[in-house]
Amino acid sequence: MKAATSPAARSGGGDDVPNHVAIIMDGNGRWAAARGLPRGAGHERGVEALRRTVEAAGDLGISYLTVYSFSTENWRRPAEEVNALFGLLRAYVRRDLDRLRDKGVRIRIIGERESLPADLQELVQRAERETAENSDFHLTVAFNYGGRDEIVRAARRLAQDVIDGRLMPGQIDEAGFAGKLDTAGLPDPDLLIRTSGEQRTSNFLPWQCAYAEIVFANPLWPDFGGVALREAVDDYRARERRFGDVAPKAG
Ligand code: IPE
Ligand code: IPE
Ligand code: MG
Repeated sequence: MKAATSPAARSGGGDDVPNHVAIIMDGNGRWAAARGLPRGAGHERGVEALRRTVEAAGDLGISYLTVYSFSTENWRRPAEEVNALFGLLRAYVRRDLDRLRDKGVRIRIIGERESLPADLQELVQRAERETAENSDFHLTVAFNYGGRDEIVRAARRLAQDVIDGRLMPGQIDEAGFAGKLDTAGLPDPDLLIRTSGEQRTSNFLPWQCAYAEIVFANPLWPDFGGVALREAVDDYRARERRFGDVAPKAG
């Protein structure tokens, strides 16, 4: 990022603020269980944490925020919980779309769409359409998302291009492959955060996070917000990224 004009410089955060932060929002169920509440109550509080975090990310000078909201593996949960999670995405888009659009936020939803209820598919299409011209901040929600599923769907698109004669197998390269993923056009995450102390990535952005710095944060997702995000960013800023190269010389 260039110093004078970067969002990081505007916020006073400095040049090494991550451009793209991805978050595995985990721990809603444990948050609720600790209070004797049903899991759904944790998911509801999780939406509030998301609102706080979007706000805080913008203030810190982060330009891209991608959040893991429902995985392809989360279908294994009881139908009641799955439906509640669908309902929360519906409510979030309905309630927050106008405000996010007016604030210059571009919304994208990544993941497999066809298995979602028709009204939800329409709603996420509307959110993307109505914010397509925005570029101040990029909020991407991974819903019915699985990294392996995304890679398989990308491989199918490439195979179809080969069958249709648009592409030779030898022409497939990393950039071309990335261009067939749901995240086409998005920069790779610089920082991946998982809340709730769990130390795994659970099928989230495996291609895109190949060189992301990872922070495992202890707060359960409903307790997350600006302070915890700032801590993760500070941790990131103290690291040295090498991308396979040797360490830069001191001074
Ligand atoms: C994250 O919280 C939300 C989703 C995965 C949908 P969890 O529901 O996984 O909460 P824990 O991990 O059971 O505490
Ligand atoms: C990852 O959390 C998925 C989301 C946060 C949406 P999970 O709670 O589903 O992951 P595991 O099962 O603990 O690995
Ligand atoms: Mg979990």
